[in-house]
Amino acid sequence: MKLLVLHGPNLNLLGEREPEVYGRMTLEELNRAIEEFAAAKGVEVRIFQTNHEGTLIDLLHEHRRWAEGIVINPGALTHYSYALRDAIAAVGIPTVEVHLSDIHSREPFRQVSVIKDVCIAQIAGKGMRSYLEGIELLLAKEVGGAPGAG
Ligand code: DQA
Repeated sequence: MKLLVLHGPNLNLLGEREPEVYGRMTLEELNRAIEEFAAAKGVEVRIFQTNHEGTLIDLLHEHRRWAEGIVINPGALTHYSYALRDAIAAVGIPTVEVHLSDIHSREPFRQVSVIKDVCIAQIAGKGMRSYLEGIELLLAKEVGGAPGAG
């Protein structure tokens, strides 16, 4: 399986950004853990981080014929980007929305996701595990969706 993993705005600062909320793990460490997890499951991954909404949308478009699943942490774009929502709907690839922190127990604006309805699941509040569980979910869906799997 081929998976696209996307990190949105400010996630490049992981490790130094509000460590009491997001932990001390850097983006590089997170990406390494994702790569190792994926490799162990025989999954091919392409990982990108960008601080720009348009670039995130371009990445979805560029990889739409390659990716069979998407794990995306859209950062704050989660809460207001209809353009990102439309891009996820447009590419039509099973997508899991993930968050390091538990957005449901934070400020009211974070409890709204405009992305959620175009994703197969939202996983939040599990730190790095949110991403790994997202990958597991897409793998399970692929197995479940295989012809003859019932
Ligand atoms: C986040 C939660 C968002 O509300 C926030 O804007 C982020 C990170 C998370 O991973 O917990 O940038 O997506």
